[in-house]
Amino acid sequence: MKKAYVAGQWVETGTQLKVYNPYNDQLVDTVAQCGPHEIDRALDGAVDALEQTSRMQPYERAACLAKIRDGIAARGAEFARVLSLENGKTLAESTLEVARAVATFDIAVGEATRIYGEAYDLGINPMGSGRRALVRKYPIGVVSAIAPFNFPINLAVHKIAPALAVGCPVVLKPASLTPLTALMMAEVVEASGWPKQAFSVVPCNRSAGQMLVEDERIKLLSFTGSPEVGWKMKSEAGKKKVVLELGGNAGLIIDHNVKDWDHLIQRAILGAFYQCGQVCISVQRIFVHQDVMGEFRARFAKAAQALVIGDPLDAKTTLGPVIDRANVERLQGWIQEALDQGAALVTGNTIADVGAGNSMTATILEEVDAGCRINADEAFGPVVTLTPVQSMDEAFHLVNNSRFGLQCGLFTQDFATVMRALDQLEVGGVIHNDVPSFRVDSMPYGGVKDSGLGREGVKYAMEDMLEPRVLVY
Ligand code: SIN
Repeated sequence: MKKAYVAGQWVETGTQLKVYNPYNDQLVDTVAQCGPHEIDRALDGAVDALEQTSRMQPYERAACLAKIRDGIAARGAEFARVLSLENGKTLAESTLEVARAVATFDIAVGEATRIYGEAYDLGINPMGSGRRALVRKYPIGVVSAIAPFNFPINLAVHKIAPALAVGCPVVLKPASLTPLTALMMAEVVEASGWPKQAFSVVPCNRSAGQMLVEDERIKLLSFTGSPEVGWKMKSEAGKKKVVLELGGNAGLIIDHNVKDWDHLIQRAILGAFYQCGQVCISVQRIFVHQDVMGEFRARFAKAAQALVIGDPLDAKTTLGPVIDRANVERLQGWIQEALDQGAALVTGNTIADVGAGNSMTATILEEVDAGCRINADEAFGPVVTLTPVQSMDEAFHLVNNSRFGLQCGLFTQDFATVMRALDQLEVGGVIHNDVPSFRVDSMPYGGVKDSGLGREGVKYAMEDMLEPRVLVY
C-alpha cells in the first residue's frame, strides 16, 4: 500500500484506492485515498510554503529541478515498468514517456534562471513625462494540478516543473486510475530539497478533488483531461486563473505529392495507434488527396493489421489495451453508430483474445458521416476515419469543421500549402510532414475552441504562473 504525500508527510488515510492493470485487470497496488481533510492540509501547507518558495533564488530552484530530473532518470526503468502496469502502455512507450519527463524537468532547469522583467520610459505622453516603469514578475501563488491517465508522469510534470521553476507550491491530483508513478515522483521531489510543505500528491476521487477546483487558496488551476470536465471546472473555479489542456479529433492531411511512402505510413501508424490512440493529439481524421487515396488505404491498412497486440510488458507488443472496459464498450458503440449510418469498415473492430479483453484491433473506417461521434467527438482509442479530398482547401475546411482545434499534421511538398495551412487552420499547432501527434516538450502546446485555454511547454506555462508587478519611478 502506498501512502499519499501531503505537505511533506507520507500519510495513511483509512480509505484505499485500488489500481488495476488495464491489460489483465489484475490488482497492481493500492494507494491511500485523500479526502477533504488531507487536501485541506495540503493547501494550508502550500500557502505557508509560498513565502519560502517565492524567495528562493533562481539558482536554488534550478538546483532542485536538476535533482528531480536526475532522480527520475536514475530510476527510469522502475518508473517505466510501473507506468506500463498502471496505464497499459507498452514498455517502449513508457520508456519514452519517462525520458520526456526527464527532458521536461531539464527544460525547466534552464528556464528557472531566465525569468526576465523589463524597464522602460513612460513618457509616451505628457502624463508620463519623466517617469519610468520597472516590471518584475512574481509567482502567482498556490497551483493545483489535475493530471490525466494517458501520460501519468509527463503531463503531471508539465504542470509541476514550470510551477517549481517560478517558485509556486503545487498540489497534484493524479488520475485515480494511474496514481502510482505520481507518488514515486513525490519521493524524488522530497529528496530534491524543494521545501517540504510546497508539494503534495493527493490521490482522491472527483468529489474530494473538487476542492482543487473551487478553493480560494489556489491561484491557478491547471487541468488536463476531457473537454466536458475541463469547461465545467472553469465555470466553478471562481477567481483563479485556469489553464485547460483538453481533447481533440486531430486531423492528418495528405497531399497528392507523397515523396516517401514508407515514412508516411510509419508516422501515420504511430500517430494513430501509439498508446492505443489514447493521446489528445492522436490522429483521428485522415484527409487524403483523392489521387493517392487507393495507395494510402492499402498500405495503411496492411501496416495497421501488422501491429502486435499483447501484454505491454512483452517487448514484441506494439498495441496495448484500452484503459478499461467502459471505454472499449464506448468505442464499439461509436463504431457501430457509424456503420449503421453507412460507413465502411476497412479493417479492425474486433476485441483481441488476449488479457482481460480490453485490447481492440486497430480500426480504420471510411465514408463516415462528419456528424458521427467517431468523427465529431474525441475517440481516444485505436480508431481512425479516412476521407478523400479534391484539394488542400477542402481538407482545411474539413479539419476546421470541428468543435476542437489542437494540432494538425500536413504531408505536402508544397511550401505555399504549408503557409496557407498555418494561416487557415484553427488549431494550436500545424506539423509539416509529420503527424499531429508530434510534440517536443519545449514547444507551445495547447488548443483553441473546445480543445482548451492557455499553453503548456514549460516556458509558456511559466508565463501563466507569473504575475507582473510594476514600479513607477
Ligand atoms: C496529450 O495527450 O495531451 C499529450 C500529448 C503529448 O504530450 O505527447
